Amino acid sequence: MAQPESDGRGPAGDAWSAEAYARNARFVSDLGAPVLDLLDPRPGERILDLGCGDGALTEKIVAAGAEVRGVDASPDMIAMARARGLDVEVVDGHALAFDREFDAVFSNAAIHWMTRPAEVIAGVARALKPGGRFVAEFGGMGNVAAIRTAIIAVLAGYGVETDLRQIWYFPTEAEHAARLEAAGFTVEEIALIPRPTPVASGMEAWLATLAAPALRLLSEGDRDEAAGRMARLLAPALQDEGGNWRADYVRIRFRAILAGA
Ligand code: BEZ
Repeated sequence: MAQPESDGRGPAGDAWSAEAYARNARFVSDLGAPVLDLLDPRPGERILDLGCGDGALTEKIVAAGAEVRGVDASPDMIAMARARGLDVEVVDGHALAFDREFDAVFSNAAIHWMTRPAEVIAGVARALKPGGRFVAEFGGMGNVAAIRTAIIAVLAGYGVETDLRQIWYFPTEAEHAARLEAAGFTVEEIALIPRPTPVASGMEAWLATLAAPALRLLSEGDRDEAAGRMARLLAPALQDEGGNWRADYVRIRFRAILAGA
C-alpha cells in the first residue's frame, strides 16, 4: 500500500483534528519548557515558530516580548492558533519562502514530521538573518522505538509492509548536525535526550492521534482493532501495574547559528 506523503506536519491533507490533539497530546506543548529556555527569546526579536500547531508555545514566545510568526501545515491547527490571536499561516515546512526576516527560528515536536530535512533546513537558513539562531526539539534516533516496532508488526499482520521512515524523521545527533552544517550553520549544542513520557489518555488514544498516518495505511474498518492489537503488544513494555502508560520518547534538542553575522 502507498505511504501517505508528509506535508510538513502530519500526513497529506489535514489529518489533524486540533480538538483531538488538545485532548490526547497536550503534554507535547506542556513539555516544551527546556527548548523554550534554550531559545531564550528577547523583547523585540522577530521569531518564526516552525510547526506551531495550535499556538500553545507560540503564545509563550509572544509573552516574552518577541514578535512571532507561526506556520503549520495543518489548517485545523492554524485555525486554533489564530483563535488565540496569533499571527499564523498555513505553510508546508518544506517550502518556507521567508527571506532573511527572522532573528531566530524555533520549533517543538514538529520537525520529525518533515521527511525531507534538507529542504526544511535550507528554508530555515533563508528565513534567518545572518547570525540568526535555529533552536528546536523533536523526536531523535530511538524515538518511540517500541511503539514503531509494534506498529510495523501489526501492520504486517494485515499485509501492509512499512518501515515508517516515510512518515517520521528521527535522526542521530551526527546526522542532523551534518545537515545543519551543510546549510551554513555552526552547531553550538545538540543532544539526544531519553524522555519516557506519561500518556494519560492511554496508548490507543495516542496511536489514534499521533500514529494516524500509519493507521491510515489500513482500511478504516480495521484501524481500531489494529490499535488495540498494538496496545496489547506494548503493554508489557510501556504500561505499569496500575495501568498507566509511558511512551518511549527520545528527543533531539539543538541550537545552531547561521554564518555571516
Ligand atoms: C513525538 O513527538 O515524538 C512523536 C509524535 C508523533 C508520532 C511519533 C512521535
